[in-house]
Amino acid sequence: MIENETFLKDVNEGFSQNPKHISSKYFYDKIGDKLFQQIMDLPEYYLTNCEMEIFREQSDAIISSFEINKNQEFELIELGAGDGKKTQYLLEALLKIDFKFKYIPVDISQNSLNIISDRLLKLFPNLCIEAKQGEYFNVLEELFNSKKPKIILFIGSNLGNLNDQVAHNFLHQLAENLKEGEKLLLGLDLIKSKEIVLLAYNDSQGVTRDFNLNLLARINKEMDADFDLENFEHLPLYTEEEGVAKSFLKSKIRQSVFIKPLNKTFDFEEGELISTEVSRKYNDEILEKILQDSSLKIQDKFMDSKNYFADYILTKK
Ligand code: AVJ
Repeated sequence: MIENETFLKDVNEGFSQNPKHISSKYFYDKIGDKLFQQIMDLPEYYLTNCEMEIFREQSDAIISSFEINKNQEFELIELGAGDGKKTQYLLEALLKIDFKFKYIPVDISQNSLNIISDRLLKLFPNLCIEAKQGEYFNVLEELFNSKKPKIILFIGSNLGNLNDQVAHNFLHQLAENLKEGEKLLLGLDLIKSKEIVLLAYNDSQGVTRDFNLNLLARINKEMDADFDLENFEHLPLYTEEEGVAKSFLKSKIRQSVFIKPLNKTFDFEEGELISTEVSRKYNDEILEKILQDSSLKIQDKFMDSKNYFADYILTKK
């Protein structure tokens, strides 16, 4: 099935259910990629700043915890690479100590991969890089066909976008593929107070609002739909007890939207919510629960100076 048809099918299914929902993976078209870049530069979006600090200050310690044999060539695979600005510090440190490795950024967006490849090659002309386009679920099998030892990077709290069951399945699938000595570096946003988390998803410049609303703009463009963006508002919610930031689009009025290729009208009540994203926050206990009965355990944990964010090194039991 071509990508557009999958999107169309997911929109049809998601809008036919109660409550309505669309997967956050559809945020990332060209405009969405740009808006997410802007989000990462926002002062309120502490996630990027904190993880950047961890990589800037602790890359050497992180590399030690990889326990790599210097003479053995390995593959550094990054799932959901984005713009690579954090990984840059790690790559720099690895190149400095002459490790032999290939960097394989994986992303759903070919556009992002082109940008990251250009940027990194300009910075590090000697870097061996081989970008791979696809959803991480689908490319895993292919990646594990290679026999080289692997370090998997899954940073940026991207795991948080998967609901707990899916996150569990994904980590277990990864665990089964990893061999003795191979590591997973998992970057997770930690549970913290509502004031801090909510601001990160409700910034004063309204970039996150635009990012969320862009989903409807994208449906308008790609499915010839007639959403009036003025009639929807960005609604972020979070409680520290649950530890999950949720984003919704709220219909300001009772309205109908026609989606041409489906030849179907969807009705929205006044105040009705479309769920567009979950961003889970973690602690050791939650992570350990997800890893329970898997072949992975926590080996190390690196945190920023505010203890807002953690990069965990997971290893085979
Ligand atoms: C890229 C999934 C980590 O959930 O914090 C940023 C995406 N959404 N602002 C997140 C996002 C709204 C982000 N992740």
